Amino acid sequence: MKAVVWTAYGSPDVLQLQEVEKPVPGSDEVLIRIDATTVPLGDCEMRSLNGARWYTFPVRAYVGLLKPQRITILGMELAGEIESVGKDVTRFKAGDQVFAQTGFVQTGTYAEYIALPEQPEGGAMAIKPANMTDEEAAAVPVGGLEALHFLRQANIRSGQKVLINGAGGTIGTFAVQLAKYFGAEVTGVDSTEKLNMLHSIGADHVIDYTQEDFTRSGETYDFILDVISKSSFSGSLRSLKPNGCYLIANAGLSQRIRGRWTSMNGSKKVIFGTTSPKTEDLVFLKELIEAGKLKTVIDRRYSLEQIADAHRYVETGRKKGHVVITVAHD
Ligand SMILES: NC(=O)c1ccc[n+]([C@@H]2O[C@H](COP(=O)([O-])OP(=O)(O)OC[C@H]3O[C@@H](n4cnc5c(N)ncnc54)[C@H](OP(=O)(O)O)[C@@H]3O)[C@@H](O)[C@H]2O)c1
Repeated sequence: MKAVVWTAYGSPDVLQLQEVEKPVPGSDEVLIRIDATTVPLGDCEMRSLNGARWYTFPVRAYVGLLKPQRITILGMELAGEIESVGKDVTRFKAGDQVFAQTGFVQTGTYAEYIALPEQPEGGAMAIKPANMTDEEAAAVPVGGLEALHFLRQANIRSGQKVLINGAGGTIGTFAVQLAKYFGAEVTGVDSTEKLNMLHSIGADHVIDYTQEDFTRSGETYDFILDVISKSSFSGSLRSLKPNGCYLIANAGLSQRIRGRWTSMNGSKKVIFGTTSPKTEDLVFLKELIEAGKLKTVIDRRYSLEQIADAHRYVETGRKKGHVVITVAHD
């Protein structure tokens, strides 16, 4: 089968289309023909190791010290069809249309096929929403599950004021829609060209971070979700109501130390995003999608052969919502 092999840490050119062995599912695994996958920013950060400094060591320790070894195919989310199932699989059968997040332990969706446990470790798999294309469905698990998890950590309630910093990307576009679904008044912060899209998915207010610093407006919020960990720590605390909650998705060490101290010494809480995808949450997202409450924002589509170009585009930061990869089969 065709797969995009991750040959080294570095520029998008390290991603090379190759012929590799088609996987054979184990007794508790399903073999999925992948029809679509995505390129979230997290994939580019893993590929290049240009993300947060704290992130480099655990990735090298797990994936390979000098070059990718344990994981050689990137990609964490997919939509596709189950081609066959192992003898112990109970939840799925051949022919099921599914969408899934593989979990960090086993990436590999930049390929024609993947074998996954019916309950992927650190991931989730469910029947695909009936009203979505493969491209739309493939883009739901990573951003949708992260956003849902973050909003639940803050226990969002109807009528609360929520600000989402970095609202126009993979996680943010789902966070805006889910916060609206939970009844919040939502402010989305992102760059100029993403603001119309944020309104179109339900944001009540938008702030262009290139023109205005939300922490200096005097406005206060019950919950600030900083998806990209770029808001000022003290400014964000100042922008919280008493008993408000500030969630930093990708917190560095100093933010963690200051956050713990703040939470122990006042009414405002600082919490940190930790991923924990659950199958029941993916089913919950499917039901919201089928009820018309949640949609995917697709910016660009690329083929598997063009995946390095897709990574280059995602790294420009101009991506609105999601970049999807359509996987063709001969
Ligand atoms: N997706 C995942 O797999 C995953 C899972 C867990 C955690 N994370 C982490 O979460 C972070 C965000 O992920 P994502 O996939 O949602 O990223 P994304 O799709 O690139 O979205 C981030 C958004 O933030 C905007 N932005 C950049 N600088 C900003 C600033 N100073 N103020 C406000 N907005 C700003 C970007 O727009 P402009 O570039 O136009 O400014 C972009 O629209 C990444 O660091 C990632 O590692 C990702």
